[in-house]
Amino acid sequence: MLSFQRHRRLRSGETIRRMVRESHLSPSDFIYPLFVVEGSGIKQEVTSMPGVYHFSLDRLDEELQDVVKLGIPSVILFGVPEEKDACGSSAHAENGIVQKAIHLVKERYPDLYVMADTCLCQFTDYGHCGVVESGQIDNDKSLRILTQTAVSQARAGADMIAPSNMMDGFVAAIRQGLDQAGFEHIPILSYAVKYASAFYGPFREAAHSTPQFGDRRTYQMDPANAREALREAASDVAEGADMLMVKPGLAYMDIIHRLRERFDIPVCAYNVSGEYSMVKAAAGQGWIDEEAVVLELLTGMKRAGAELILTYHAKDAARWLRQEY
Ligand code: PBG
Repeated sequence: MLSFQRHRRLRSGETIRRMVRESHLSPSDFIYPLFVVEGSGIKQEVTSMPGVYHFSLDRLDEELQDVVKLGIPSVILFGVPEEKDACGSSAHAENGIVQKAIHLVKERYPDLYVMADTCLCQFTDYGHCGVVESGQIDNDKSLRILTQTAVSQARAGADMIAPSNMMDGFVAAIRQGLDQAGFEHIPILSYAVKYASAFYGPFREAAHSTPQFGDRRTYQMDPANAREALREAASDVAEGADMLMVKPGLAYMDIIHRLRERFDIPVCAYNVSGEYSMVKAAAGQGWIDEEAVVLELLTGMKRAGAELILTYHAKDAARWLRQEY
């Protein structure tokens, strides 16, 4: 007699499939990235990221209304400043673009959870995430400016600080700086595991943050390494990170999974710009079903172990998820 298991019994109809589903996506899983620029009347689409815009502060409200209406709990702000200099001063200016945006969002939508990306690449004229001294990234000097930046973002009203710069010790430095400035209650989402990835291409166009010399491989991780990711994450946890980010998502699902297994704090996946652009390009050609592909990708990140997903698809995905129920 043929002996085998009938796995298909639990797939026989949508109701039973829904009952045994192991991972669920919901709009509350999403963090939506927003690009803010100086000026007025600006809502300009990023060429390589259809559906993603640069907003001047006077136009931001339209987007925020959508985000709130769709039940997305959180946004992360990326600033594209008018002025850049060698030490990234506009990253921590009281009236810097990110600081003004944080203030505005919190004033209009106090319940929307605002994260601030803490990095220097958009703000330095050479486009690196740290400060450059005689052609090299100066780690410890960068820490001072990054800490100042994080404190200025907290002062502007940020609910969470999300440092993405990949300098060593940035969590320890920022934690100490926040605590000393009276922001011990503000959590840190550390981009603990950030790879030197070609998938950031469209973001660099969007954020005007392409490095003007060299590349980011002296601070971002080698895509071939997984054990190193655990060391990066362990040191950030020890330094006081409240949540961990894996970036990018798609090619790094194993890393999301490993972090989830190893650490008990929330893990977040960054579904980055290049991942978004690929889907949009193929969908634009009519080659894939955008809705099905996006929901499958995001579900994959949840299944891998991410509690939260930072994604440019957040608004569309939230809309599709609402129609499903
Ligand atoms: C660095 C930063 C990057 C992204 C967000 N913040 C990467 C980089 O240029 O090294 C990329 C995000 C994306 O591709 O969506 N501050």
